[in-house]
Amino acid sequence: MKFHLIVGTRPNLLKISSICNAIKKINSSQIRFRLIHTGQHYNKNLSQIFFSELNIPKPDINLNCGGGTSVEQITKIMISYEEYIKNNIPDYTIVVGDVNSTVACSIVAKSYQVKVVHVEAGIRSFDISMPEEINRILTDSITDFAFVTSENAKKNLIYSGFNKQNIFFVGNTMVDTLLSNINRFRKPQLFDCNKLELNKYFVLTLHRPSNVDYELKLNEFLNYFDKNLFNYKIVFPIHPRTKKNLKNKLIFKNIIFCEPLSYLEFNFMVKNSFAVITDSGGITEETTIMNVPCLTIRENTERPETITDGTNELIGTEIKNFDFYFKKLFDGNWKSGKSPKYWDGKTGERIINKLIELDE
Ligand code: UD1
Repeated sequence: MKFHLIVGTRPNLLKISSICNAIKKINSSQIRFRLIHTGQHYNKNLSQIFFSELNIPKPDINLNCGGGTSVEQITKIMISYEEYIKNNIPDYTIVVGDVNSTVACSIVAKSYQVKVVHVEAGIRSFDISMPEEINRILTDSITDFAFVTSENAKKNLIYSGFNKQNIFFVGNTMVDTLLSNINRFRKPQLFDCNKLELNKYFVLTLHRPSNVDYELKLNEFLNYFDKNLFNYKIVFPIHPRTKKNLKNKLIFKNIIFCEPLSYLEFNFMVKNSFAVITDSGGITEETTIMNVPCLTIRENTERPETITDGTNELIGTEIKNFDFYFKKLFDGNWKSGKSPKYWDGKTGERIINKLIELDE
């Protein structure tokens, strides 16, 4: 069985790390794969450092398609991947997550009659204004084999008419990566430099276009956190998308701005924080596993199990509603979490074993 494994962004790397480890562990002579990096994320802190920390093999090719609008990115990736696949036809193209690289490579694979395997298929926010929701729907509509993280995702696919026989509930590859690295988390320099104390600071991440592309809105959020969290320090690794709208960082006295952290450093900070404030989806899964309170600045989520089973709550995007949630947090009334089904560190192996079975 020959396959291409597609990676483009920081969260993709975490997902494929689990798959690469499973391939190594199962060590089947049946499997031959090539790792294709689209180059969607290209700066050191969002890409290269994850390869070295997580021991991910060097990509067989980098398509270097970073930058530009979503449409430009998808188009560039499609053209470049087509050039590659033409002379290197695999049996399967495995795509993960919901980013531009996921949808672009699925379309190309399908046009060359290559079967598409989608890992983390079926999740839906039902908010079509999100670029990721468009990517999810399009990718799943041409997926041959869907590997899902939850019963909800499975239901969404069945509801959309997806063949039930080809949906496999295997769990969560991000959780595999988290559990296999949890004992390697590393304290970043900024921890001691800023005299931080365990469980006495927040971690903040923001990158969603609707939250960061308007300077005024972004600054209103930061102003609220700076003034209303009892002078707790807030560690804010800034995503490149967010950077351009942060003109005057000096006005915030409790926010510690930094470059994106490496995986081991970022999760050290999360694990030892008082709580996390984010608009990411993946981080809500990690906080669920590490039982850290998570306040998500969104109106919806495609990962409802992080709320029903985990530590996540949607606090919305209206500042006037934030006080209610922070009061609950500071009063010590935040819920504890439990791990959703199959989020147990063995998902990568389930995926590879199933692919071997399908190939027989
Ligand atoms: C992408 C994903 C999102 C994921 C996020 C994680 C899509 C539609 N979105 O969003 O689902 O949660 O990654 O990080 O695929 N840039 C750099 N350096 C880089 C990468 C990007 O400067 O290494 C710049 C880009 O040129 C662009 C902006 O940051 O101006 C946004 O990058 P992009 O890849 O379009 O989307 P993300 O916001 O990172």
